[in-house]
Amino acid sequence: VDAMRHYFNTINIDGTIVIGEGEKDEAPMLFNGEKVGSGDGPEMDIAVDPVEGTTLLAKGQPNAIATIALSEKGSMFRPGSSFYMNKIVVAQQAKDAIDISKSPTENVQNIARALNKSVKSLTVFVLDRPRHSHMIEELRASGVRILLTSHGDVSGGVSATLPRTGIDALFGIGGTPEAIITAA
Ligand code: FBP
Repeated sequence: VDAMRHYFNTINIDGTIVIGEGEKDEAPMLFNGEKVGSGDGPEMDIAVDPVEGTTLLAKGQPNAIATIALSEKGSMFRPGSSFYMNKIVVAQQAKDAIDISKSPTENVQNIARALNKSVKSLTVFVLDRPRHSHMIEELRASGVRILLTSHGDVSGGVSATLPRTGIDALFGIGGTPEAIITAA
């Protein structure tokens, strides 16, 4: 958090933290509404998650990351007190193929078509949580491979958007700040 605060002091923006540390992690630093940046330069909305994957870091495991997302003032979604969101993340090529109101089966079929791949060759990142057990069963039945991971759905989501990461999509319920940072 200190490193992030220091970083913000060195850049010429008039920033407001829209999604900060706080409610979910009970760590009220870089709080919602806090002004950051030199005060000169463009007005920006900012979302931060200084340690995304706290448990991973605490256990000395890989894939904990520090995240900052910036956007033009007024353009970042303000989630209010929502803790969790239902997420689907795909690469740009498949953005018109997904529909969160449809079943995982329909979504993976449509994603495969958009990516010009077979359903069986897709790898889907899912957080390993009991709440996902039905979805995991359905995804397995559809034929996709599942990468079950203990924490870190920003890393999983960003990987789904990039080529050659071995991850084609992310499905499931995870943190709301993480959803907005991934979307940015
Ligand atoms: P933290 O670093 O804030 O603990 O978040 C880790 C994480 O795995 C996120 O990547 C994910 O969005 C969220 O927790 C899922 O929440 P929960 O652990 O409550 O299922």
